Amino acid sequence: MEQSIKLMVDGKTYELPILVGTEGERAIDISQLRQMTGLITLDPGFANTGSCKSSITFMNGERGILRYRGYPVEELAEHSTFVETAYLLINGELPTRKELTRFSVMLNDHSLVHEDMREFFQNFPRRAHPMGILSSMVNAMRAFYPELPDRTEEEETNVSFARLLSKVRTMAAMSYRISRGHTVVYPRPDLLYAANFLNMMFYSPVRPYEIDPDVVNALNAFWILHADHEQNSSTAAVRLVGSSRVHLYAAISAGICALWGPLHGGANQAVIEMLTAIQANGGDVAPFVARAKDKNDPFRLMGFGHRVYKTYDPRARIMKKVCDRVLNNLKRHDPLLNIAMKLEEVAIKDSYFIDHHLYPNVDFYSGIVLRAMGIPLNMFTVMFAIGRLPGWISQWKESIDDPERKLHRPRQVYVGKNKRNYVPIDGRG
Ligand code: CMC
Repeated sequence: MEQSIKLMVDGKTYELPILVGTEGERAIDISQLRQMTGLITLDPGFANTGSCKSSITFMNGERGILRYRGYPVEELAEHSTFVETAYLLINGELPTRKELTRFSVMLNDHSLVHEDMREFFQNFPRRAHPMGILSSMVNAMRAFYPELPDRTEEEETNVSFARLLSKVRTMAAMSYRISRGHTVVYPRPDLLYAANFLNMMFYSPVRPYEIDPDVVNALNAFWILHADHEQNSSTAAVRLVGSSRVHLYAAISAGICALWGPLHGGANQAVIEMLTAIQANGGDVAPFVARAKDKNDPFRLMGFGHRVYKTYDPRARIMKKVCDRVLNNLKRHDPLLNIAMKLEEVAIKDSYFIDHHLYPNVDFYSGIVLRAMGIPLNMFTVMFAIGRLPGWISQWKESIDDPERKLHRPRQVYVGKNKRNYVPIDGRG
């Protein structure tokens, strides 16, 4: 039965349709509201605004559920690989063996970075943040890889997807090598995606890097857990920028910029900085918890809280397991893990965090996983960006294929000055 809601404005009643998603969530369709009533809706931060219909990712923040194309993220993190999950997100179904091989061959074929681009890379200042470098490089990809007239639109799109997934990983490793003054290591055709990345990062001619399968598994799980998260800030940026019909690389570059911020992907770096500060302060978490609760202090517990999850982030639970497993397998002890566990223990029992529904999010334990792999701190958000690529790509594709697609152009309620006349400079003040 079709559902609707009645709205009374100035004594007149209007009926607005209610849309029901496949998991039963309901939304009021306000697309005709202004036309019918002259009103718009106001929702700062879009906390209650659905910007699209999507069949990619389902999350339920009250019950702590996350599924990609219907598959629980817990099952994918346990059994899938990042490349397989990327295929699933982009194409909607898990690949057959043949499809997966074809996809992997395509990623391998596009893994090298244009030599001119590599030189371009080298001119960034050594201390530049890798996220700034990455967003610029991705935007520059259109210049180095222009559209070819002999390709169909579909071929061009598929090649762009493969280039992004494969080259961004190569560029990330390249930027790390260059920042350390080391020679660039090229991708190897005999290595799978995650192993190849680790080799490009850590191979040394004087001390060959041994690829540890436990680290490869942890990296696959890390990337799978970041692969998509419906209409988060960076994905919304990709869709918004993409809605102007700019090329894919520019839209993804915008997503990378949005991800960089400490309230979004930059939180994984900020968590380690916070844990390190607690350690330097003698390891007592209490003053940091007190600061996070203090209304007059802008400090927040990084890796805590989420716009949608009002319970434990399911990704944080899996990430903690990945963290325990990788440290155990590598026989490593990380003192920051003890501090993180203590902080979680104290915060989740505290009435402020309970009342505000603040629980650990994906970033809380992910930095410790990355540290165990030897990934440097300033590369943490880049690792998130590589993981989020399949999500950005699939969401961009869905928006482009949507027959109802429109330029994203929100409205506003103007609260500024009313009309006034220009005053010449001598008459002011
Ligand atoms: N520590 C202390 N207080 C917090 C925190 C926190 N981490 N997060 C939210 N609050 C409080 C906030 O002060 C406010 O309190 P009050 O209502 O009393 O003024 C209330 O909770 C609501 O905060 P908000 O900023 O309006 O809520 P939001 O839904 O916009 O915030 C968030 C979501 C992720 C930006 C926020 O929880 C935060 O800043 N967390 C720390 C940064 C972080 O870990 N980000 C990673 C998010 S998960 C990875 C990703 O997908 O990007």
